[in-house]
Amino acid sequence: MRKVITATLALATGCVLAGTAVAQSDEEKINYRQAVLVVIGGNFGPMGDMAQGEIDYDAEVFARNAERVADLSRMALEGFEGGPHSGDTDAKAAIWDEWDQFEQGMTNFEEAAQGLAEATEGGDQDLGAVQQDFMQVAESCQNCHDNYRDN
Ligand code: HEC
Repeated sequence: MRKVITATLALATGCVLAGTAVAQSDEEKINYRQAVLVVIGGNFGPMGDMAQGEIDYDAEVFARNAERVADLSRMALEGFEGGPHSGDTDAKAAIWDEWDQFEQGMTNFEEAAQGLAEATEGGDQDLGAVQQDFMQVAESCQNCHDNYRDN
């Protein structure tokens, strides 16, 4: 049994190592960050619709999505590291000229998203109680897109 486990582990580790041994290509970096941002947008969009009264407010869905956005907010930055990357991207070259500011923008987003996740925890708040926290996250998206995304 132990032998089987060891062999399986060796195999699994081999896969992981094979995957990380080669640096990600520009295309992989771009795909990765865009995928993270698409899922962020897919969760944040309905929250915006609720906040604006376009669809009915559902506190549980709002809280669930807030938690997802907070988790995902911690995954986006690494998709930008080591650039600029050439390919099908809307990321402006200014990101890498002003990396510290861009990184700060991501940190602001992460903190705001974490704040919103905490404010919505339990999923039983009125919309009015979480609207302010929601706006802070929305502003962090907007600020960064204004500066660093080609629209
Ligand atoms: C610190 C900067 C930054 C923050 C914060 C940020 N974004 Fe973005 N976002 C970008 C950049 C840059 C791109 C373009 C990426 C690319 O094309 O390579 C982008 C792209 C996107 C895309 C398009 C993805 C695609 O390829 O289709 C969506 C959707 C998106 N962001 C949603 C959001 C939402 C919603 C938030 C906040 C909840 C947010 N972003 C916060 C910088 C940011």
